[in-house]
Amino acid sequence: MQQFNYPTIIYYGEGAVEHLASALAKRGHRHLLLVTDATLVELGLAAQVVESLSGSGAEITLFDQVHSNPIEEDVELGTTAYKTNRCDAIVALGGGSPMDVAKVIKFMATHKGPLAQYEDRLGGDALITNPMPPVYAIPTTAGTGSEVGRSSVVTMAATKKKTIFFAPQLMPDIAVLAPELTASLPPHITAATGIDAFTHCLEAWLAPGFHPMADGIALEGIKLCLDCLPRCLANGNDLESRGKMLMAATMGATAFQKGLGMIHSLAHPLSAHFGLHHGLTNALLLPAAVAFLERSDLDEEQRGRLSTVHGFFQERGSGGDSLSSASRAWFESLGIEFGLARHGIPEDRFEFLADEAFDDPCHPTNMIPVTREDLLATYRAAL
Ligand SMILES: [Fe+2]
Repeated sequence: MQQFNYPTIIYYGEGAVEHLASALAKRGHRHLLLVTDATLVELGLAAQVVESLSGSGAEITLFDQVHSNPIEEDVELGTTAYKTNRCDAIVALGGGSPMDVAKVIKFMATHKGPLAQYEDRLGGDALITNPMPPVYAIPTTAGTGSEVGRSSVVTMAATKKKTIFFAPQLMPDIAVLAPELTASLPPHITAATGIDAFTHCLEAWLAPGFHPMADGIALEGIKLCLDCLPRCLANGNDLESRGKMLMAATMGATAFQKGLGMIHSLAHPLSAHFGLHHGLTNALLLPAAVAFLERSDLDEEQRGRLSTVHGFFQERGSGGDSLSSASRAWFESLGIEFGLARHGIPEDRFEFLADEAFDDPCHPTNMIPVTREDLLATYRAAL
């Protein structure tokens, strides 16, 4: 028996935020907590969204103190703002961080502290049972796909560790994909976040297990990335391509219900310990990880999965005689500079990183099982 879930309502296209305002009015919300960060306030995007949402007739309290790597205090302050202002719904505006914090405020608004007891690893999801306010998610980057995700990562004060909270009820009620909100993203962030979306689709497609719905979504997402990410870099105001990249990001996170793989396991410690952007770390490791798969003893079906994606590159006239070389050439054309050493990752930390990567929960759904030594060798290949 397996269970497949695709419950999020998606509003897509220019002006989708106004459409959300109408939906909020129909739902009768009276006071919204808008969770965002200081950068989006500086860019004027928060004010733009407040203006659009004022059409709902609800009062709006702005909470803009989310850190780029969210911490427990962000959740505490946000939950206090929610309760003090007697809010009845949460709107998350931003990249993955405001969305992650919004999802945790959602359950802390109606559950007792401390937050630590709800950690997924400790079985905390079983304690998330009370009715909770809805979350409406408005992404401003096209990458994480957190707007359709069921989990959240927050660094706890006591342990200083990134801690996962997971429950199907945390999935936003409506995801709003409005391309005009991503037009001001600078090229290097556009590339890095877009490569994250591509990696989600690729790893989901390569993950073992029966999930043809995820497979179909992943393949279409890969094609959207190949076609639209270069266009977003060539012209940041190409709203059609910006919109399709938002959709590709949403599709990537929908597809990776099936699982991720070794690329994400290798990438996570580089962000945790060296502060590199998550999308960039995927880019630096993906070609070496795919080359590892290409060298491995794969069955016909597995090799066919690699060939299918390589075929998408070939159809688009991209160079490379394998998926690993084609993806490397494509990332270079998007501005990625390869070499872990060049990005400040010294070779003498690879043993430590391999331990961390092997501990990471993503690689058990890699196309083939990997050992710690395989992960170490892949770091070396990406040096
Ligand atoms: Fe990712």
